[in-house]
Amino acid sequence: MSVDEIFDKLLSSESIFKNKRVLSHDYVPEILPHREKEIQKLAYILATALKGGKPSNVFMYGKTGTGKTAVARYVLKKLSEKGERLGLDLSYAYVNCRYRKTNYRVLIKICDEIGCVGLPETGLPTDAIFDKLIKYIDMREKLVIIILDELDWLVKTSGDDVLYQLTRINNELERSQVSLIGITNDLKFREYLDSRVLSSLSEESIVFSPYNAQQIYDILKQRAEMAFRDQVVDDSALRLAAAIAAQEHGDARRAIDLLRVAGEIVDRNGDSKLLEKHILMAKDEVEKDIIEMTVSELPLQEQLILLAIVKAHSNGNGSGKITTGVVKNIYEEICHELGYKPVTLRRINDIISDLEMLGIISAPVVSLGRYGRTKLIHMEVPIKSIMKVFEREEKFSIVLAKNK
Ligand SMILES: Nc1ncnc2c1ncn2[C@@H]1O[C@H](COP(=O)(O)OP(=O)(O)OP(=O)(O)O)[C@@H](O)[C@H]1O
Ligand SMILES: [Mg+2]
Repeated sequence: MSVDEIFDKLLSSESIFKNKRVLSHDYVPEILPHREKEIQKLAYILATALKGGKPSNVFMYGKTGTGKTAVARYVLKKLSEKGERLGLDLSYAYVNCRYRKTNYRVLIKICDEIGCVGLPETGLPTDAIFDKLIKYIDMREKLVIIILDELDWLVKTSGDDVLYQLTRINNELERSQVSLIGITNDLKFREYLDSRVLSSLSEESIVFSPYNAQQIYDILKQRAEMAFRDQVVDDSALRLAAAIAAQEHGDARRAIDLLRVAGEIVDRNGDSKLLEKHILMAKDEVEKDIIEMTVSELPLQEQLILLAIVKAHSNGNGSGKITTGVVKNIYEEICHELGYKPVTLRRINDIISDLEMLGIISAPVVSLGRYGRTKLIHMEVPIKSIMKVFEREEKFSIVLAKNK
């Protein structure tokens, strides 16, 4: 089919979507089914603000796609609308730390969100920005709620200095007050957070449990009605998408992705109804995308170890005989080639466990008799998807190209 023909085909056939935007990641619907309790709890905590008090700090956690961001954004939006109607001076700053991993960038974003604009994107010491933030907030005599979403990214990358300062900010403010809402999907985050910071951050906490298949179905049904034209989505397709996402630790984002991609496939194929088979096709596409994103976001040392595993695989060790020792040797060669300092064996083992947690590999410990124990590493995802990420980066592609 020529490009012109593709365009003509697309123009002549009607899309099954009526409003695709409602399937985008940042869309928050007016009703969030199965999150009534969490919404109420957060609303109760924050309602103090409407009477001029300082709400407790809140720590919200739960696995990915369980509605934490959606609930926080929903309640904050309602609160600020109510505040405005009552003529109260309260404002909030929403920061996603995944995209602003440094203390400096997080502080700048907070300033930006509450209207303290014009600060340089780099250059000043963090303390100077912090002082400006304090002065700005105090000058306006108001309550500021700071939401630090995906907070683990900040702490993992830059430590907990700023978080610590933020939990103590009220000691420095004379006329205003700040409440914090910290959000994370890293269930181990609490363990590596300083205990003083943790206790001050989690004056209240809200746990988000994974959705089951029925709950995801309800969420999908609501979205499908808004997103697609009438009667184009088969109910069994919704059930299947919900079942798949429920297996994936109850991730509503995954379910909505499946629905969106399946709709795109229907349009592309010129089909008229969204059926189970489209969900299955979408599943493959979405999985590929997720693997690629996960790998490309890994820290450097994790990527190097994974690269060593991939290389061990293509060197013919694919039949389940990749031991930690094999990986270590190849990894050290790669470090040497690229000029990086290799990490210790202990750290290599930690990284292998991390990769296992992400579902990229499996690495059961096996006994080698009198030679001790080792991990036997298997790839759990198609190696092609991982290669695709590495091949995009010159330094990695050089390593992959060698002695193939
Ligand atoms: N109860 C719900 N009703 C309707 N949509 C929901 C519900 N829960 C989650 N969603 C939708 O699912 C997607 C994922 O939700 P959200 O972004 O809130 O997850 P999260 O818990 O913040 O995940 P992460 O930890 O990965 O950031 C969003 O598009 C959101 O609108
Ligand atoms: Mg989120």
